[in-house]
Amino acid sequence: MAKKLGIGMIGLGEIAWKATGKAIEACTDAQMICGVDPVAHVAKSYQERYEIPCSTNLDDVLKNPDVEAVIISTPHYLHVPLGILAAKAGKHVMVEKPLATSLEDADALIAACKEAGVLCSNCLVSRYNPDAMKAKELIEKGAIGEVMALKFFGLSNKAPSYWTGGYTERVYTTWRKSKVESGGGILIMNFVHDVDRMRYITGLEATRVYAEYDTFNTDTEVEDFITVTMRYNNGALGNLLAASCVPGANRIGIRGESVAGNAIYGTKGQIVFDKSLLVYTENEIEGLNKGDWTEFKMGGGEQRTLYVDRFAQAVRNGGRPDIPAEEGRKTLEVLLAAYKSGETHQVVNLPM
Ligand SMILES: NC(=O)c1ccc[n+]([C@@H]2O[C@H](COP(=O)([O-])OP(=O)(O)OC[C@H]3O[C@@H](n4cnc5c(N)ncnc54)[C@H](O)[C@@H]3O)[C@@H](O)[C@H]2O)c1
Repeated sequence: MAKKLGIGMIGLGEIAWKATGKAIEACTDAQMICGVDPVAHVAKSYQERYEIPCSTNLDDVLKNPDVEAVIISTPHYLHVPLGILAAKAGKHVMVEKPLATSLEDADALIAACKEAGVLCSNCLVSRYNPDAMKAKELIEKGAIGEVMALKFFGLSNKAPSYWTGGYTERVYTTWRKSKVESGGGILIMNFVHDVDRMRYITGLEATRVYAEYDTFNTDTEVEDFITVTMRYNNGALGNLLAASCVPGANRIGIRGESVAGNAIYGTKGQIVFDKSLLVYTENEIEGLNKGDWTEFKMGGGEQRTLYVDRFAQAVRNGGRPDIPAEEGRKTLEVLLAAYKSGETHQVVNLPM
């Protein structure tokens, strides 16, 4: 590709600092041009570390002709208003997860990008996890037959400092605690990836959702424990249990069991997402042991670099991004259905 896609960084906090900046430095088809953050010391330190001009004025990014696309890495409630401003300035838009905090906002962003003729994508980067891509390939080859059930499971114990400073404590913020500013807790903040990845891997969509959640052990408005029961459009069942407040959960369980792990159960086998990818099949599938387990040690991969490069290629080729905003909207719809169910104690049906 001739010219690298020029990227403006909007929001220079934790994820931009510890992951996205490094990921774009490794890109072959994209480069950072400049950045903006309203907190002066955050903009300054980003400029020093990544050697791009950074300011506290959004126009410095949106009016820069070398900026062809932006990555929005701000508190969740700002994703859509900033995305719409970027689209109106003629910039292609990549938005951190979740796409928005409401479906109305998601629709407004999608419409603004269409009207401006720019691409819009949601950074649901875990679709590029090597184990997710392998699992998708194996399911498409029929390794586990028909999917009967999906398990989503992950317990963590986020420190009090997380709620005002993330994992790095580089930027003081309180948006993670606020229901309006974040949209929710462990579900929308973290399990957005799991819910999305399972949609990608299996191609299944949730049609019925029932949830219970609460805030037991954290000084926040958002939930720290949630359980969700789902029915999918092929009839499969789904069960999610997630928490951010369980003492001891950051270490392996006392009997050696993992405190995180998703799984897909099929009529001919199963796939377990552990430290490695574990696959059991009764079928004759190349590369798998019939009637036994096969283990794949997939490694971490470079999901963010791949995500940005693939987006850059879509811009240059006049194509569609791998993860268009519409996909982020579909995932968001499941999460919001779970929150609605948890509030009303009613089952929520989703469109087929
Ligand atoms: N921290 C992680 O591990 C992680 C991982 C993946 C994705 N994300 C996502 O990235 C996004 C940002 O999360 P974070 O953890 O970096 O949060 P953060 O609070 O550390 O950083 C957000 C930054 O946005 C800035 N900001 C606020 N208003 C702004 C505006 N109007 N214009 C420009 N910048 C503005 C803040 O000053 C702050 O520096 C969220 O959507 C989050 O879900 C975070």
